[in-house]
Amino acid sequence: MLTAGPTYEPIDPVRFIGNHSSGKMGFALAECFARHGAQVQLVSGPTNLTVSDPAITLTPVTTADEMYAAVLERADAAKVLVFAAAVADYKPRVIADKKIKKAGNELTIELVKNVDIAAALGKQKKDDQFFVGFALETDNESANAAEKLRKKNLNMIVLNSLNDAGAGFKHDTNKITVIEEHGATAFELKQKSEVAQDIVNLVWERLHG
Ligand code: CTP
Repeated sequence: MLTAGPTYEPIDPVRFIGNHSSGKMGFALAECFARHGAQVQLVSGPTNLTVSDPAITLTPVTTADEMYAAVLERADAAKVLVFAAAVADYKPRVIADKKIKKAGNELTIELVKNVDIAAALGKQKKDDQFFVGFALETDNESANAAEKLRKKNLNMIVLNSLNDAGAGFKHDTNKITVIEEHGATAFELKQKSEVAQDIVNLVWERLHG
């Protein structure tokens, strides 16, 4: 099971808080796991992407709460859980039921924390499940990623540094370092499909030796 893409948190009927996640990394991983024989549940926020492999079941969602509900339904049956979504950390406390009209020079929208899907699932992780998270960092990259690995009870975390040219949200390429409890594996800048293959290989090695 994988999460992918951004989440959109509505402000009113026409506006939302979102981010620039394209979903490409998560979808590339879903395709790669499927090619290697997995039955894949892909829970994705809004993207322009489609899936072609019949082994992938795509469940489209919009908000973090919807993503969490879809993940909870599917988590128990999953052996490998990959949290590649860029979940909005906060959502508006109130969703206006009518379009907010402009008035005055300032507008304040109160935000409340969204559920941390990876961390919530990490609390109920079973011994035979393998969890992969993602981290996008700009400074203290390795230390921050290692902290997320521990806090979210993940088996590995894929670190993208925004300091690397060609890596991150808007590119077809990515440069990752995979951090595990006992060490780190750095990879070259590659196409996201090749990055997906590296991650799947590493997960396979950890599961099957
Ligand atoms: N994640 C999640 N649910 C959230 C936030 C994050 O499932 N509400 C998952 C992401 O899919 C990713 C990992 O947690 O696998 C790390 O997300 P990131 O946003 O980098 O970390 P945060 O814990 O939100 O920390 P910060 O934004 O402060 O760096």
